Amino acid sequence: MVNHRIAVIPGDGIGPEVVNEAIKVLELIKKLDPSFKIEFDTFDWSSEYYLKHGKMMPENALQTLKKFDAILFGAIGDKRVPDDVTIWELIMPIRKQFKQYINFRPVKLLKGVSCRFTGEDIDFVIVRENAEGEYSNSGGRLYQGHEQEIAVQNSIITRSGTKKAARFAFEYAKKHGKETVTSATKSNAIIHSMKLWDEAVLEVGQEFLAINLKSYYIDALAAYFVSRPEDFEVVVASNLFGDILSDLGSAVVGGLGLSPSANLNPEGEFPSMFEPVHGSAPDIAGKGIANPIAQIWSAALMLEHLGRKDLASVILESIEQVLVKKEVQTPDLGGSSTTIEMGSAIRGVLQQLLLVKEGR
Ligand code: NAI
Ligand code: MG
Repeated sequence: MVNHRIAVIPGDGIGPEVVNEAIKVLELIKKLDPSFKIEFDTFDWSSEYYLKHGKMMPENALQTLKKFDAILFGAIGDKRVPDDVTIWELIMPIRKQFKQYINFRPVKLLKGVSCRFTGEDIDFVIVRENAEGEYSNSGGRLYQGHEQEIAVQNSIITRSGTKKAARFAFEYAKKHGKETVTSATKSNAIIHSMKLWDEAVLEVGQEFLAINLKSYYIDALAAYFVSRPEDFEVVVASNLFGDILSDLGSAVVGGLGLSPSANLNPEGEFPSMFEPVHGSAPDIAGKGIANPIAQIWSAALMLEHLGRKDLASVILESIEQVLVKKEVQTPDLGGSSTTIEMGSAIRGVLQQLLLVKEGR
């Protein structure tokens, strides 16, 4: 039986609060499903760690993480440490060094979520290129502090990187019976890098003739996300466009508290990392009211990645049943329940579903 070894990085703010609930869900499955073995090692790399040690994680952190099958990540960000330090010293090295070049974000309107789109069938995924694009540290500043100051931030689009993202999107579409892949572009104004993006996506699209490729300018696409979100199936986007579209997507289906993500190294050469779309939410941290669903769903994506789609589906079913009942709702969903109460309600349903699944 496979024993899954998971590195856990709870991080800052609400990160540890929601990660705790995700771990309890995984522990429950371990207890009830004899075919599922999992072990956790937790790492305290965070802003607190930075304030003590002057760095976000130890020198050998990546060698340590490399031995694990996957990484479950909470969120980072703390006003005592600049955001570019937390992001570039912790998240970016993991994403880039572990070639997690796909950021995969489901945008699905769960049953029981009340929002202006309730009743619509919104269920699509965003495939965000996660290793290059606009989030590069290539560039610099001249004449700092002077009126003539100049900043240059290079956006790196490569044919091979774009094709890998596009191929993931088309293969996902093919595997899941989707008809259309939508590409986010801006090649009318960003005429070098985005034209290469368009060409590379089209080149891959020609290998998948049964799937339509639609290409929209990012500004129009942002509007369509709100005016007709039910039309999308698979959206592929560069790093920055994908980042913005995923927060927009999560707002459409009920908010950041409900949005999971996966940073994938599709070849499995390095561990992949699973984290909610949201950050450390300093405005509600420590109050015990963060919605743990995004984190628990991220753990479900992790199980799917580890080959246990069956368990991932049971977790999602449990989440939906709790949302439909509306007895337990955190403040972002309009209720007054705590993080722990939400976690416990989900585990309550999960326990019943697992016992049925095991035929007990
Ligand atoms: P945020 O996602 O932390 O919060 C945005 C809003 O959504 C806040 O009002 C927050 O209370 C709410 N929210 C977020 N998650 C929630 C949850 N689970 N339940 C209920 N409400 C929730 O984004 P913000 O405020 O822009 O950034 C805060 C910090 O997080 C910054 O330091 C930022 O750099 C960092 N950040 C880290 C990320 C990561 O670790 N991957 C991603 C995004 C931001
Ligand atoms: Mg974001």
